[in-house]
Amino acid sequence: MSGGNLILVNARRPCPFTVPKDLEPVKGVLLRREAARALERLIACVDGENEIIAVSGWRSEKEQAEIYRSSLKENGPDFTEKYVALPGHSEHQTGLAVDVGLNLPDIDFICPAFPESGVCGLFRRRAADFGFVLRYPPGKETVTGIAHEPWHFRYVGQPHSKIITERGLTLEEYLEGGGGNE
Ligand code: DAL
Ligand code: ZN
Repeated sequence: MSGGNLILVNARRPCPFTVPKDLEPVKGVLLRREAARALERLIACVDGENEIIAVSGWRSEKEQAEIYRSSLKENGPDFTEKYVALPGHSEHQTGLAVDVGLNLPDIDFICPAFPESGVCGLFRRRAADFGFVLRYPPGKETVTGIAHEPWHFRYVGQPHSKIITERGLTLEEYLEGGGGNE
């Protein structure tokens, strides 16, 4: 049981399973097969093989709990509530979310650098063509419950990724509006 590509996980909706089916290694992380293949194609399309790395893919609830705990200790509650989902409530647990980062000597695991310019900007502009959406856009913090995360992409598949991106929606807004049932 892994849910479909439109599964919604947020502070109100826990991830309903422990380990998703069909996890596959990609760029050093694990993602569900369809998302893994799409990520590979997207990175290849923007010639980003050397510059873009996958920093975090599938996480178990236990790993999320460890990240949450260590962030609370190192960064404090304000930062942690903005950038780290509660254990059990991270969409990384679905195997459909990936944090990408620019390949720099120092990678911040929670907030990797992913600038708007250059190859990262190109990745972002082409993401919807490969089924990905920027899951936590700026200005939607009250809807998603998470601060703007330029590095966190969520695989939803097409045509959903295109519609969500073209209309400037969050996954919450898309699903509330009947997206996926059309
Ligand atoms: N950084 C995202 C919100 C997570 O922890 O799942
Ligand atoms: Zn993430």
